[in-house]
Amino acid sequence: MTGYRGWAALGIAALAAASSAAAAQAGGDRPDPAQVERGKMLYANHCSHCHGFNMVSAGNVTFDLRTFPHDQQQRFFESVTNGRDNRMPPWGDVLTQEEIGDIWSYICTGGK
Ligand code: HEC
Repeated sequence: MTGYRGWAALGIAALAAASSAAAAQAGGDRPDPAQVERGKMLYANHCSHCHGFNMVSAGNVTFDLRTFPHDQQQRFFESVTNGRDNRMPPWGDVLTQEEIGDIWSYICTGGK
């Protein structure tokens, strides 16, 4: 079990190498595949109806999360926690910071 997961983590580590901030959030040197999976589920439940399935935005008013800069983790947490300009609802009462971190690690995969 750990052997297989280890190899999967190596693959994701390559993807996320540019994003040490995400790794720090995950509390390790590389994002945990289980964390990315949780983030994906949270995204599907809370975000996808506006931001699109697999982060593919409908291309109108909603921010395309595939283009969110991966070096702006702080901005991500603030925007998601507090909402944006009355156009995106605040999530601070719905999601814990840890869950927002899970979504962040999913965002950093670019939806693949
Ligand atoms: C009700 C529709 C809606 C939902 C649900 C929603 N968003 Fe948004 N989101 C928006 C809109 C609209 C914008 C663009 C706001 C703007 O440009 O001011 C946006 C912008 C963003 C941005 C960019 C903020 C920035 O700093 O530029 C992020 C990141 C984001 N959303 C993440 C999320 C996450 C994560 C979730 C799920 C927890 C989520 N959104 C759920 C509508 C939504």
